[in-house]
Amino acid sequence: MNVERQTKPRRKRWKRILKWTASIIVLALVLWGFIAYWTSSNDCEQYAAAPGNPMKAIVYCDYGVPNLKLQEIEKPTPADDQLLVKVRAASVNPLDWHFIEGTPYVMRPMGVGLRKPKDTRLGVDFAGTVEAVGKNVTKFKPGDEVFGGRTGAFAEYVCVREARAVAAKPANITFEQAASVPIAAITALQGVRDKGKVQPGQRVLINGASGGVGTFAVQIAKSFGADVTGVCSTRNIDMVRSLGADHVIDYTKEDFTKGDQRYDVILDNVPNHSLSDCRRILTPNGKYVMIGGGGPNDNRWVGPFGRVINTELISLFVSQKMGMMMADLNQKDLTTLADLMQSGKVIPVIDRTYKSLSDVPEAIKYLEQGHARGKVVVKAD
Ligand SMILES: NC(=O)c1ccc[n+]([C@@H]2O[C@H](COP(=O)([O-])OP(=O)(O)OC[C@H]3O[C@@H](n4cnc5c(N)ncnc54)[C@H](OP(=O)(O)O)[C@@H]3O)[C@@H](O)[C@H]2O)c1
Repeated sequence: MNVERQTKPRRKRWKRILKWTASIIVLALVLWGFIAYWTSSNDCEQYAAAPGNPMKAIVYCDYGVPNLKLQEIEKPTPADDQLLVKVRAASVNPLDWHFIEGTPYVMRPMGVGLRKPKDTRLGVDFAGTVEAVGKNVTKFKPGDEVFGGRTGAFAEYVCVREARAVAAKPANITFEQAASVPIAAITALQGVRDKGKVQPGQRVLINGASGGVGTFAVQIAKSFGADVTGVCSTRNIDMVRSLGADHVIDYTKEDFTKGDQRYDVILDNVPNHSLSDCRRILTPNGKYVMIGGGGPNDNRWVGPFGRVINTELISLFVSQKMGMMMADLNQKDLTTLADLMQSGKVIPVIDRTYKSLSDVPEAIKYLEQGHARGKVVVKAD
């Protein structure tokens, strides 16, 4: 009886302490978020001074496509292990609109920039001519035609480390075609080869077969000897078939998850079907590779993260392998793709080519609509 009388007030005191501690933590977090948001800045002041050795580049000091500007900034100088590349063409990827829009918002506190973008340069995929090399560079020389990936590719020049994502451009493709390759084709290659582990004769379904990643994925899966089914809309059926797809499903007329066919691998560029529906059409040991995360206005706060977690969780309890992939831009895979293009097994599909860097905002707006047929390219010279 006595003990009970003593523990009651003690429990009350602990409750009060916990309540206050939790309130203080929440308040501190809100205050920290508020301060971090309003003090978040970037390196835009550097662009105020007139550059000594200028080049034109796309710069954005604030989030949003209207804030993209073509501006004169300092031309980069290659370090000892770098090449200076005169960019001839660059291509646009959904990655670019994720950065320019700062969505999903959850990535802003993860280093992308809370109120303003931390990195004010845009673009990754480029193709061009080597203009100069650092003193330790051995694989490339001035005049070489190359393609690769480097942040800030929407510019007249980029510097890229010789050992990083840069490779010789095959002679049989144009700069525009080469610029369309890096992110989309590496994603397709790694999806088919590393995540899907596609074997000859396997049935592979590619949802979103007519876009940047999809047009490469159809050709690469064919080059691996797969039986390929592409999912696209009516206007793209002939194009997807011409890339080598054995079967084409028109998503405006048929839901591919409702059919009787079972697939060994699904490469999903458009996550618009439930995971259980996708799982239903997989073979018992099939693989579901989540590539796409939706459009710029889908789940602006968390983007595809909810689906990513679901996919990984489900994978723990089922016989099929399900998971998200993140492309890794590297020289070895760019060289593999160069060989595939050299041999004619992969031919980049270009939807639109914009005439100059000043067209980057238009190119991004077009891509954001989500209906590009192959890749969207911008000329840089
Ligand atoms: N995980 C990674 O590492 C990685 C790397 C690169 C890209 N991605 C992501 O992969 C996705 C695809 O990238 P992308 O460069 O291919 O984009 P994209 O070029 O913009 O894809 C557009 C294509 O999607 C098709 N599409 C739209 N709605 C569709 C639907 N309901 N069913 C089937 N197809 C549909 C469109 O065809 P219609 O015009 O016929 O509708 C269009 O051809 C994006 O979400 C991107 O962020 C991820």
